[in-house]
Amino acid sequence: MKNEVKVLSEKCDKQTSHSNKLNLANLSKYICFALVGFSSIASAVQQTTTDLNEQDKRNEARAHAKELGSNLKTRLQEAIKRGGLEAGVEECKLVAEPIAHSLSKEGWTVGRTALRVRNPNNKPDDWETAQLIKFAEQLSENVTGPLEATHVDGKTGEFRYMKAITTGQVCTACHGEQVAPSVLSAIKKAYPEDEATGFKPGSLRGAFTLRYSPTDAE
Ligand code: HEC
Repeated sequence: MKNEVKVLSEKCDKQTSHSNKLNLANLSKYICFALVGFSSIASAVQQTTTDLNEQDKRNEARAHAKELGSNLKTRLQEAIKRGGLEAGVEECKLVAEPIAHSLSKEGWTVGRTALRVRNPNNKPDDWETAQLIKFAEQLSENVTGPLEATHVDGKTGEFRYMKAITTGQVCTACHGEQVAPSVLSAIKKAYPEDEATGFKPGSLRGAFTLRYSPTDAE
């Protein structure tokens, strides 16, 4: 009798565990379906929010770049009018970094860079170098429209933006192939390591470069 009970109870255990297994298998299938469904919806939502954020950030970056460009231009023009190109060089030396610094707030870092720089603090990093090379190629292929690049770091949420700056005729007075000796000596005095001459009108001079870091914005 004792043995019979034992056998019966073992049988029952086997059955329940069998049926449990089946149910679990079914259930996990449903859960699996549900999860796959949800995650694809979730990633679609995430995708559109990222796209929207990216669009917002690009617009903000464009506005900051424009502000930096126009502030610098105003200061440069005033200085040249006052004391010629040599004064322009001095003014640039005095104000370029502080202006960029004053616009760097709420998570943004705003600046300029180039493949050949006048101010060594403007040297590009790897990502910037790659974009500058691309811009130069696009310019040589006469690609029309503003040359821009963006990058989003999926892990940190960091957003980067660059916009090409071409060499205008007025720029050649300080960045061109034939810079007047007095201007050149003012440049060399302020920037002994200057690499930023020899640019032809229409060629790539450099780029605005901006970075938005969510952790800095907190
Ligand atoms: C009066 C001389 C002068 C003129 C004109 C001038 N620049 Fe510059 N430029 C400078 C100086 C000085 C610097 C270094 C500023 C600094 O310390 O960041 C500089 C820096 C730059 C940089 C940052 C990268 C680097 O080389 O350090 C860019 C980009 C640039 N100039 C573009 C232009 C463009 C485009 C024009 C024409 C619209 C122009 N510049 C006209 C003197 C001049």
